[in-house]
Amino acid sequence: MRVGAVQFAPTFGDVRGNLERCLALVSSADADLFVLPELALSGYVFESREEAESLAQDPDAEEFAALASAGAERGAAIVVGFAERAGDSLYNSSVLLAPDGSRSVYRKIHLFNDEKRIFDPGDRPPAVVDVGGARLGMMICFDWIFPETARTLALLGADVLCHPANLVLPYCQRAMVTRCIENRVFAVTANRVGTEERAGQSWTFTGQSEIVAQSGEILARAAPEGDAVIVAEIAHEEARNKLVTPANHIIEDRRPELYRLG
Ligand code: ACM
Repeated sequence: MRVGAVQFAPTFGDVRGNLERCLALVSSADADLFVLPELALSGYVFESREEAESLAQDPDAEEFAALASAGAERGAAIVVGFAERAGDSLYNSSVLLAPDGSRSVYRKIHLFNDEKRIFDPGDRPPAVVDVGGARLGMMICFDWIFPETARTLALLGADVLCHPANLVLPYCQRAMVTRCIENRVFAVTANRVGTEERAGQSWTFTGQSEIVAQSGEILARAAPEGDAVIVAEIAHEEARNKLVTPANHIIEDRRPELYRLG
């Protein structure tokens, strides 16, 4: 299958304009799966929870219908990050829009820094969704620093980690190589670029969106700045072979009975 990461700089608060940008970038490339950044429609630096609520969607929103039909026209699944309004709750979420019209939502479990003031932490375990025979799992940005996230998805049978991001620390792109090696899964990290100066804060996002193979090979990586769509052909079934040597199976060789304190 062909997988793609879409990198761009959302304009804070311009949901319509950001959606148009997402649609244009998706239409500029050919892939079976496109992953877009975290909070791609709203922007990232919110002054308050109320401001984030005013820019939030629910997963049935018309914005996702437009993206889903752009994907379905090309036979592609799309994963995009958004602020999710769910009753009185507000999550930093991603939605997987499958070409058959189905939608699955992941709510970020590990909130980063000021996100703890804005969002509720995800309240459901990660899940894996089968799309055309490929098993896709979602994680969002800072989830990378908790190896449990990728491991849980691997134990659930994920072939590909779909990873929308708004990265500001300089580590994740290197760390995802390890996440792929230790779980023998593919990963598509779609990071944003640009700087947001709001609410007395200034955050610069690191770009370098990347597609990493289950071997740890970086199949494609974008520049630190600028819009980009990177695409790579992957044999996603290779993620189901967990042998790192003929005698070492990275799942079966674990010793959970010894992984305890004291
Ligand atoms: C992050 O989790 N957006 C750094």
